Amino acid sequence: MGRIVYKYVIFIFFSLLILNSFFIIAHSKNLDEKKPCKRFVLYYHDILFNGTNGANATSATVANRTKLGNFNHGMLVVFDDPMTTDHHLLSPPVARAQGFYFYDMKTTYNAWFSYTLIFNSTEHKGTINIMGADLMGEETRDLSIVGGTGDFFMARGIVAIRTDIAQGDYYFRLEMDIKLYECY
Ligand SMILES: *[C@@H]1O[C@H](CO)[C@@H](O)[C@H](O)[C@H]1NC(C)=O
Ligand SMILES: *[C@@H]1O[C@H](CO)[C@@H](O)[C@H](O)[C@H]1NC(C)=O
Ligand SMILES: *[C@@H]1O[C@H](CO)[C@@H](O)[C@H](O)[C@H]1NC(C)=O
Ligand SMILES: *[C@@H]1O[C@H](CO)[C@@H](O)[C@H](O)[C@H]1NC(C)=O
Repeated sequence: MGRIVYKYVIFIFFSLLILNSFFIIAHSKNLDEKKPCKRFVLYYHDILFNGTNGANATSATVANRTKLGNFNHGMLVVFDDPMTTDHHLLSPPVARAQGFYFYDMKTTYNAWFSYTLIFNSTEHKGTINIMGADLMGEETRDLSIVGGTGDFFMARGIVAIRTDIAQGDYYFRLEMDIKLYECY
């Protein structure tokens, strides 16, 4: 009796071991950072409401900076920004970026972004959800694509952002290099 149980335990042990190695193989597919399954570049235009530019503003401060340091710490901005395929603010938008950013560092400008790219055109319908730290001292910063819907069902990837231009406090433009590594 004990012998049979022993064999049985050994059998289960090896079965689990084999299953486990299959699992590891299935999940160790080599993702090559240089080979996204889908890639496109869009420009993000943010015009901050300053009290008089209501006709053009696309974002507004909803919580003002705190007195911690001199780098806008605590300032929270909610935006509904147009996304275009070229640099021009007035080009027809191909998507909207809706979400927020806030400044979170005491000793330099750093922000944290969380937003959805919303596509509603004949070309694309769906959303891409993005979040991450904007370490503004770096030339390009990587944000995470954490999911998607519609044409971007279950998307995952990286958005490399670069400040294309910053005009005072009221307008800045980001280049967003959108790279998906999971496409369905
Ligand atoms: C707000 O920004 C606009 C440019 O978009 C500028 O013409 C205007 O003078 C600014 N208003 C204030 C109060 O700074
Ligand atoms: C809105 O933008 C247009 C085009 O850039 C500009 O002519 C106009 O003065 C702006 N209006 C405000 C209120 O800033
Ligand atoms: C935010 O606070 C600054 C002073 O730190 C002030 O100059 C500015 O007008 C405030 N902005 C808003 C939108 O309340
Ligand atoms: C998407 O576009 C269609 C056609 O222009 C419009 O009827 C619909 O309301 C839009 N949906 C959203 C969520 O903006």
